[in-house]
Amino acid sequence: MGRVLRDPPGRRIPRRPTRSVLLGMTSGLLVLGVALSACGGGGGGFEPTPVPTPAPTPVPGPLYTDVAPLRDAAAQAGRLVGAAVTSSGLASDATYAGAAGRHFNYLTAEWEMKWDPIQKSPGVFDFSGGDRIVEFAESRGMRVKGHALVWHGATPKWVEALSPPELRIAFEDHIRTVAGHYRRRVYAWDVVNEAIDDSQPGLRSTVFSRGLGPDYVAEAFRLARKADPEAELVYNDYGGEGLNRKSNDVYALVKDLKQRGLVDGVGLQMHISAASLPAVADIQANIQRLADLGLQVNISEMDVRVKDVAGDAATKLARQRQVYRDVVAACVAVPRCEAITLWGFTDAHSWIDSTFGADDPLLFDEQYRAKPAFFGVEDAFLRR
Ligand code: XIL
Repeated sequence: MGRVLRDPPGRRIPRRPTRSVLLGMTSGLLVLGVALSACGGGGGGFEPTPVPTPAPTPVPGPLYTDVAPLRDAAAQAGRLVGAAVTSSGLASDATYAGAAGRHFNYLTAEWEMKWDPIQKSPGVFDFSGGDRIVEFAESRGMRVKGHALVWHGATPKWVEALSPPELRIAFEDHIRTVAGHYRRRVYAWDVVNEAIDDSQPGLRSTVFSRGLGPDYVAEAFRLARKADPEAELVYNDYGGEGLNRKSNDVYALVKDLKQRGLVDGVGLQMHISAASLPAVADIQANIQRLADLGLQVNISEMDVRVKDVAGDAATKLARQRQVYRDVVAACVAVPRCEAITLWGFTDAHSWIDSTFGADDPLLFDEQYRAKPAFFGVEDAFLRR
């Protein structure tokens, strides 16, 4: 417990007790149970109380330093492998920075390049967190994906209070300034994030769609292109990984933007549960149809929850390995699927815990040991 790495206010996630601590507690209780029952507890002679057999604990994997860099396997497949990171983690935790630096060749700011942290007050820009991530990446020959210029989920309160004409000015100014600041330093930008509605066709109602009208998406791409003509411009969303209404809407949106020369890529977030993911064949078919439009495809925020998988810990982790392998293999099968980014890399720090409940969704455990999932991703890159 104790150390926190999360940057956004109100989202600090303390380290959870480690599995070995929990295991230690469990075995301590079992010993106590055996000892108490051996004492007899009441003069009636020795009657052993049945002690539940603990589920087998998976054998811990090798430390992150003892497995081959994942980015080497990715490079063999001609892919980028990325992770979302925080600048405070990179600065304050040598193990976190070491694992990020060893295994990935593409970094995304988990929080620090969004509108809220970067322009908390009107006209006051704070690039410090994002810059530190870019510097870390540049010093290690890694690329950076900017995330995200326009996202209703990280828009400061002051933006929501603007009149439509004021909003237009702020919108243009934000995109120009932020994309301009990172020009030539980011490989790609998530320009618009999560614009498609979950339950009805078309755009989600947000401060941007209400204040600027539906063409705000195209407008954001136009502004980003002007501010950073070399960056790959990406539309990013969740829930449209397989074939369904939402992925059809994403497809229609990016097809239109591509025809107008505005978009270069699509991000499929891939926050999934191993207990209920879309059919992998559908994920691959979806990647393929987007690639057929001439777009680059990223798996942009992958994590795989296992809480709801039936069975013991080893079963959950084996299933998670399979899911990671199959999804990454679906990307590797399509030449234009250029990058797989994970939303974090160690189970010690994941947004999943505070959003979906405690889970172990990533490639390394809380002690930075490679989980079966790590080897699933490696297998997919090495086409095993
Ligand atoms: C999440 C981060 O992980 C959190 O730390 C932050 O507080 C909120 O945003 N889809 C996205 C990401 O596009 O930006 C979100 O990241 C997760 C869902």
